[in-house]
Amino acid sequence: MRVLGIETSCDETGVAIYDGTLGLMSHALYSQAHIHAEYGGVVPEIASRDHVRKLLPLLDECLQSANCRRDEIDGVAYTAGPGLIGALLVGAAAGRAIAQALNVPAVAVHHMEGHLLAPLLEPDPPEFPFVALLVSGGHSMLVEVRKIGEYRVLGETLDDAAGEAFDKTAKLLGLGYPGGPVLARAAETGDPDKFRFPRPMTDRPGLEFSFSGLKTHTRNLWHKHGEEANARADIAAGFQKAVVETMVIKCRRAMQQTRCQQLVIAGGVGANLQLRETLSAAGRKYGWSVSYPRIEFCTDNGAMIALAGYYRLLAGETEAPIIRARPRWPLDELMTKADWA
Ligand code: KG4
Ligand code: ZN
Repeated sequence: MRVLGIETSCDETGVAIYDGTLGLMSHALYSQAHIHAEYGGVVPEIASRDHVRKLLPLLDECLQSANCRRDEIDGVAYTAGPGLIGALLVGAAAGRAIAQALNVPAVAVHHMEGHLLAPLLEPDPPEFPFVALLVSGGHSMLVEVRKIGEYRVLGETLDDAAGEAFDKTAKLLGLGYPGGPVLARAAETGDPDKFRFPRPMTDRPGLEFSFSGLKTHTRNLWHKHGEEANARADIAAGFQKAVVETMVIKCRRAMQQTRCQQLVIAGGVGANLQLRETLSAAGRKYGWSVSYPRIEFCTDNGAMIALAGYYRLLAGETEAPIIRARPRWPLDELMTKADWA
């Protein structure tokens, strides 16, 4: 089975073709980040309009580089949520229309399930069951994955998502947008131990996260020490270390609680090299296998949506031909098909 995947939940337009036998045949990605950068964050209406502009050219590019004819597509998968409603509707409407025109089924994919399954695109994929640390711009959670479609959320953030914390902190330090990569770059020349940062929610049991306190702590440090030499890099490095170490502590707890041996890191913050290196070291120390998608499949992309859609279509999932998008969509509700009936 060959599936066309479409991702338009935020500020990246992604298209991909995944084939059950041949694997990922092609993928194309266009990031709007430079357009939103001047506003310091994603402007939803601009995002929707830009998806309209870019989606079909990317689709043609993808078909061409896969050397795939339209009539060789067996199904269409599109991100139906969570995300920005206008942006989601562009992908949902296009996905449904293409499926209708090709007379093939279409399936609505949960964006976080896409992130969760992205490591399966790699040559040495993780084995089930595993614990996934899902850290993106909109979500931070630990999920126990028994098999595809069977997800138990172990803990979530009580306030900001990890990526959101990176974005807001970078903005505060005058580093620009998107915050994750620019803050990580600034941290390279900083001393992570120059300033003391808390490790939120680690002094009590549980798998919840909270990042808003770190942001406030950063603001106070910046106001107090902003004029000092190398303050920006030192604060960025201290912030990044605090986020990474907090995640390592929570991952270790989740691994102990579930008795899993396999950890998967996914979502945009999973592109953070410090996080990847530190969790790999923890894996070696505690005897877990640690898997990540390649960097470009940590952040939003069409390949993970094509893959998740492939598994859903393979399992025989069908839906009424309606265009629907859910800006909020708890991962736990994924199995409740009643929503789509
Ligand atoms: O998964 P993603 O592309 O979109 C959402 O589903 O939200 O994640 C985007 C988030 C942004 O907040 C961005 O700042 C963060 O991932 N990010 C990073 C890095 N690259 C992207 N955070 C930390 N370090 C990075 N290298
Ligand atoms: Zn995402």
